[in-house]
Order: sequence, then structure tokens, then C-alpha cells
Amino acid sequence: MPLMSSSNGALRSQEWFGRNDKLGFLHRSWLRAEGFPTSVFQGKPVIGICNSWSELTSCNAHLRQVAEAVKRGVWSAGGFPLEFPTISLGEPFMRPSTMMFRNLMAMDVEESIRANPMDGVVLLCGCDKTTPAQLMGAASADLPSIFVTGGPMLKGMWGNKEIGSGTDVWHYWDELRAGRITEEDWCEIECSMSRSAGHCMVMGTASTMTSLAEALGMTLTGCANIPAADSRRYEIAHRSGERIVEMVREDLRPSAILTREALENAVRVDMAIGGSTNAIIHLKALAGRLGIDFPLERFDEISRETAVVANIRPSGTHLMEDMYYAGGIPVVMRDLLDQLHGEAMTVTGSSVRENVSSAQCHNREVIRTRDRALQSEGGTIVLKGNLCPKGAVLKTSAASNDLLQHTGRALVFEDHEDFMRRIDMPELDVDANSVLVLKNGGPIGAPGMPEYGNLSIPAKLLKQGVKDMVRISDARMSGTSYGTVVLHVAPESAVGGPLSLVETGDLIRLDTAGRKLDLLIDDAEFQRRTNTWKPREEYYDRGFGKLYLDAVLQADEGCDFSFLRGTGRAARKLPLAF
Ligand code: FES
Repeated sequence: MPLMSSSNGALRSQEWFGRNDKLGFLHRSWLRAEGFPTSVFQGKPVIGICNSWSELTSCNAHLRQVAEAVKRGVWSAGGFPLEFPTISLGEPFMRPSTMMFRNLMAMDVEESIRANPMDGVVLLCGCDKTTPAQLMGAASADLPSIFVTGGPMLKGMWGNKEIGSGTDVWHYWDELRAGRITEEDWCEIECSMSRSAGHCMVMGTASTMTSLAEALGMTLTGCANIPAADSRRYEIAHRSGERIVEMVREDLRPSAILTREALENAVRVDMAIGGSTNAIIHLKALAGRLGIDFPLERFDEISRETAVVANIRPSGTHLMEDMYYAGGIPVVMRDLLDQLHGEAMTVTGSSVRENVSSAQCHNREVIRTRDRALQSEGGTIVLKGNLCPKGAVLKTSAASNDLLQHTGRALVFEDHEDFMRRIDMPELDVDANSVLVLKNGGPIGAPGMPEYGNLSIPAKLLKQGVKDMVRISDARMSGTSYGTVVLHVAPESAVGGPLSLVETGDLIRLDTAGRKLDLLIDDAEFQRRTNTWKPREEYYDRGFGKLYLDAVLQADEGCDFSFLRGTGRAARKLPLAF
């Protein structure tokens, strides 16, 4: 039985507000407390505005203004908007990692939609995990849904130098440690980076996931890349408010949009824009919600066929403001049409092909043609081998070419604390060929799979001019980061994956051409270490932490909770009560 009652032509919200009984009285009466007149109860589609605004999520701190623009659109199209909050996930602040709470937010979004009297929903997101959490929640609730992303910040400026969020933090932190900039410079950069509302303005996880929300067909065309401070952000919010009212009337739901073809389109666009490695985890989780089998190998196949064309940091040189002025995601998708499922349906009510075929590029230095691509293939690749039997990923577009085929001696850190304590010790036994290995950075081991993976280069090597090394972990890395960094090793070390067996001095071979990552020890030694491995004590024995540890899946399955996958029986109509 569908969740929404409009299968028989009636609005779902009328089950609450259209009744001539005690319940109808109660539902209308309590909403009148907010000053709404009788006219709003008379057959208007009720549109929830799911807002991840929070002053603790600075990237989303302008979303209440965006919500006002959405409301204007809903009212003008004959709907009735009601804004509601969910948990918000602020990337810079939350401990141990926002990733630990993505599924909690997705559950909050799903259940808030399901439990309340709404016919459709507009979802407002921006900072890294807020977009995938809302996509997962909206997919599971399956009411008509449209996304309005918050948009990237204006570009940072330090003097006449452009400063990219995250990417230039890592760059200038290394410059400071190497003594090439001063403390005063470092303070000025801090003041120069975040100039406006909005999410990080490199092709980090936020820019990637908002771009993929558009590629999936869940935003109006051209929404994702409009800067947060641009008035067109509010115009598209207004138009999204108008459009969701039509979508309710058309009964156009995520299940008609979030298909296998839409997922393939999103992966294709992810590779073309040099998107964040985190996108692979989030798209895997979304596929799991939809009951779509989408193996990691498929990401790699698409990667091999797709050129990296977005010249945006950390893979390239420009910033998201430039991406928007160049034409944004519609241009990327128009250029890719021969490799996309152009017939895929979108929230506009039209296909991808209809939406993007007239898009125009205004700067071919920023959005390259395929014959001038940054890389002919492989924004992110998937590795397998005896060190990662269930997979690992590497963002080759942000890696060093001379390290893509590399064998080196492992220098092992047992956890992030161990790494932070020892990495800058002058006596550290390390050279430029070493492979830095971090254990216990995964979904269970850290916990929450924080963005530890872009391990800092040891200070003594920085001073020698070393800028990159091969680094391997079961953690994630910020989408704003760069370097030859192998991530998401699965199974993770905390559950006894082979990463847990590596010892300092072992040789590790990275072979990106062959998509291989191997620990070069013989089988007998491998078995001896396996037999003596012991798990660490778990971090939590109660509360959400315990639920998380008991239910979280490994990185190769998207780190969703096992009990949230698939469509299940949750769409069953539930009784009303007051
Ligand atoms: Fe929010 Fe980067 S910290 S998007």
C-alpha cells in the first residue's frame, strides 16, 4: 500500500486535516495555534520543508533564508508550506565524525516525513553529510521530494591568491610546518578563506554530493553550483517551492527518479568532476536503500570510461564559483550525454536529456572538453588485493603520477593517536619511498570512519621538499584533500581485515594500472599473523554508539545500518492518533 493516499486522487494530508471527526478537529485546531486560516486546510498540498539549518553547521547557517524563498514558491503555486528541523551535521565540529551520525540523520529525515501530515517535501542541505543523509531518508520515505542545496561559499582571497576551503588549509599547514610561510601569514589565511555563507567551495564532499543530487535528477536543473551568496540561489529555491506542488499533483516520487540509471548517471558525473571519494560510500548506501545491487566494480568500470573534465581543486586549479560561471553541472552532463542515461526522469518532470541539451559552456578552461581533459580516465579507482579483499579507493585525479605504481616499506601507526604522537618525531625511521599505514580508522575502529586518511607528511620530509607519499588506511579523507592516498580499505582493521596484520618494515605494492594493492609477505606468515590477531575493546556499550557499532556495515557496503537497507514494509499505512 503506498504511503501517500493520492493514488486514489486524495491528498495524504487530508487524512489529518480533511476529517469531520474529533481527530480532524484536533489536527486543525492545533495548527491554528500558528495563526493559519481555514483556507489552508482546504485541499492544499502540504509541503514539508526539511531544514538542516543549524548555527553549529555553519555551511548551512543561511538555510532559513533559503526556506523563506521556498515557502514563497509553495504559497504562490497553491500549496501550504510547513518547515521542520532535523538533526544537522556540521563537518568541522562534530566528534568523533559526522559520518557516525549520517545514518541517524537519515532515520530522522525518513521518520519525520513518514510521521507527519505532508504530501511532498523540499529538502535543504549543503554540508557534507547533510545531502546524502537527506537523499537516503527521502528515498526510503518515498513521498514527492525535491532538493534545494545551499550552494558553495564565495572563493577565498588572500591578497591576490585564491584560497580554497580545506584544500588550501592542508597546503598552507604543510607550508607553515616547512617554514615557508610565517605565523602571521597563517592567521591572515584563516581570516581570508570563508567569505560568505555556503559549503566548502572546492570539489570536496559537499560540492560533490550536491552536484550528484542534481545528476541523480533530484534538483532543478542548474541548482547545485549556484553560490550561496548569489540571488539566483533564492530564485531557484522559489522555483523549487513552486515545482514541488506540481510534483504532488503528478505524484512524482523518488522511486520514479532514483533508479539504477540515475545512479549510473551520478557515478559518471562523479568521475567527470573529480568528485570526493566519500561519494562512493554515500552512493553505495543510497543504492542499498533502493534495493539496487551496485557493486564497487561498477564504479571502477565507469571510472575507466570517463574523463575528468572539471578543472576544480583539489584535482584542478579553479573553485566552485568558477564552475558555476562556466555553466556548472548542466554543461558537464550535456557534454557527457552520449555516456549518460539521457532518458532518466528528474524532478522537473522532464528527462536528463531535455533538461541539459541546451546548456552552454562559458569557460572551457574550467569545464574542459574530453579531448583536453585533466585526465583521460579514472577520477577515483577501486583497488583489490590481499590487503583489501573487499576493496579500497584512490582518487587518482588528486594523486601524484610518479606514485601510482609504487612499492615501499610500511611505516605503521596503530591508530590516529599513535600517528599524531610520532609523525613529526625527528628520529622517525621514514623516507620518501615509505608507505604510511594507519590502522583503526574505519567505521568501527575509529569509530565513525573519520577523515584521517590524508595523513600528514612527516615534518622532516617536508623540510626536504617531499610533497606526497603513498598513504593507506581504512579511514576516509576530506574531499578537499589531495595526495596518493588509499582509503576505505575493507574489511577494516578493527574487524580483523588484512590491514590489521601489517607490520612496520613489510613491503606494500600499489599497482593502480592493475587496480591492485598487496602486502608482500608469504602465505605462512600471513596465516601466523591472522591466528594471533586480537580485537580491541569497543568504544561504546550503550546509546546510539552501541546501536551504531552493532549495525554499521563496512565501507564497501556504504556504511549504512544493516536494518535500513531495502524498501521493506515501512510504507504500510499507519494509524492516526493524537
Ligand atoms: Fe561544511 Fe566543508 S565543512 S562543506
